[in-house]
Amino acid sequence: VESKSFYISRSDYFFLFLHNRINALAKIRRARPGQRFINALLIVDVQYDFIDGSLALKNCPSQHQGEQVIPVINRLLTDIQFDVVAYTQDWHPSDHISFYGNLHLRSHLLADDSKPADELKLFDTAVFLLDDKKSMKKERVEQILWPAHCVQQSHGAELHRDLMIVKPTRKRKVINLLKGFDKDIDSYSAFWDNQKVRETLLNSKLKEYNVTQVFIVGLATDVCVFSTAMHSVENGYSTFIVEDGCRGVDETNIGLRLDELINSDCAIIQSTDVKDLI
Ligand SMILES: *[C@@H]1O[C@H](CO)[C@@H](O)[C@H](O)[C@H]1NC(C)=O
Ligand SMILES: [Zn+2]
Repeated sequence: VESKSFYISRSDYFFLFLHNRINALAKIRRARPGQRFINALLIVDVQYDFIDGSLALKNCPSQHQGEQVIPVINRLLTDIQFDVVAYTQDWHPSDHISFYGNLHLRSHLLADDSKPADELKLFDTAVFLLDDKKSMKKERVEQILWPAHCVQQSHGAELHRDLMIVKPTRKRKVINLLKGFDKDIDSYSAFWDNQKVRETLLNSKLKEYNVTQVFIVGLATDVCVFSTAMHSVENGYSTFIVEDGCRGVDETNIGLRLDELINSDCAIIQSTDVKDLI
């Protein structure tokens, strides 16, 4: 048997990939027949530190230019009448657990099977044993050690000045959401912190506004956009990642995360598709 028979050509793979995406889309759209869609745009973490600051994507493996999402998002805000627009910001205290430079503050809390403090490097994953806020038990927390970023009140934590900030109107609600402000808990998702200890107000606001569809753009595809989208699906919204409105940390990881999202019934679309979906 020739090993060639197991080979999937690039074009076959492309059609398989397209087929999966269209299937996911059909499934999502079937979920709510005959109903007017109420549409929210979630704009995730379009902050200086991820664009040209301490955690700039252009210095990450992807070498993505984070600012490229801004014209795409501004065009969506101009061309499409969303019922709800939400802006999120990573918003950390200076002693935050996710900062590599703060490792010494918690080195006594490293789990036995964690890499020891003196071997942990930037972007490594540390395992901490922290007091569980809900029970008396210790909780294992796997934490990537990032460079310090998005420190509260700093320039790096501000939304990029070129990002269009829309005002609330009679027809449009606007939500501003800060996340990651508990010093011991990181929060990639705009819905929940990473340990799912504390829910943000996002879900209750979207429910209050009767939102049915959530479109997600921003930074970074494989981290905060991914986590936000997973929780959006979990909370019952038809969820769309607007791929050209997102940039990420690592190409391989982006591919894996997008596949994971497709398997969770999230659709991956382009910004030009949005007008046909609302
Ligand atoms: C949401 O739906 C409820 C029930 O249909 C309605 O009473 C309420 O006014 C709606 N809220 C908004 C903000 O449209
Ligand atoms: Zn952060």
